[in-house]
Amino acid sequence: MKVKVLCIYGSPRKGGNSDLLLDSALEGAKKQGADVKKVYVRDLRISGCQGCDGCKETGKCVIQDDMQDIYHMLDDANVIVLSSPIFFYGLTSQIKALIDRAQAMWWRRKLSKSSKDKKNNHRGRGYLIAVGATRGKNLFEGAQLTAKYFFDALDMSYKGELYFRGIESMRAIEKYPKALHKAYDFGGKVVRDDFGQRSTNR
Ligand SMILES: Cc1cc2nc3c(=O)[nH]c(=O)nc-3n(C[C@H](O)[C@H](O)[C@H](O)COP(=O)(O)O)c2cc1C
Repeated sequence: MKVKVLCIYGSPRKGGNSDLLLDSALEGAKKQGADVKKVYVRDLRISGCQGCDGCKETGKCVIQDDMQDIYHMLDDANVIVLSSPIFFYGLTSQIKALIDRAQAMWWRRKLSKSSKDKKNNHRGRGYLIAVGATRGKNLFEGAQLTAKYFFDALDMSYKGELYFRGIESMRAIEKYPKALHKAYDFGGKVVRDDFGQRSTNR
């Protein structure tokens, strides 16, 4: 059976660095025979979570907007790759809105799994690609924690990341062809689940 990969593009900047990296990863995933779908959060109308507890009994969100289609796509994927620039040491607000709305899936999981079962995430694997302008040691920490607990709510395991520091202007990543090659390889690895050693780049 084909691995179904959902690529979530988190930048508001069309054709920017994180877009280019995820495009390369997507090509690598396709090369491995994966069935690949794309979501551009900048093109969607996704409200923030209202914290209304409307999902608490049902595991379903009551807000009727573009997120309703995304729930189906999240459910359908075996592998999810998020790509985002770092904005104020976290993910962009566009992708964070989508992530916060996964609260409904968090409740669904809580309602359907015993506490013993919750230790294991059976539904699939999640990965993060992130890029930032500065070079600080902690640059990706906030984004990684958010991604990890997003995948957990989806009953998926966080399995790996690809990070690039010192990349700021539009398409600056193209000056580093090795980075795009790494992203291509990363795309192949997410399909093969070939992450023996976790690595951080640049
Ligand atoms: C609102 C905003 C906040 C940012 N915050 C950070 C930051 O905290 N740390 C950092 O290293 N870069 C920061 N950046 C720079 C972006 O991460 C960087 O330009 C990145 O390459 C943009 O990726 P993109 O082309 O995929 O949008 C910020 C940029 C913007 C517009």
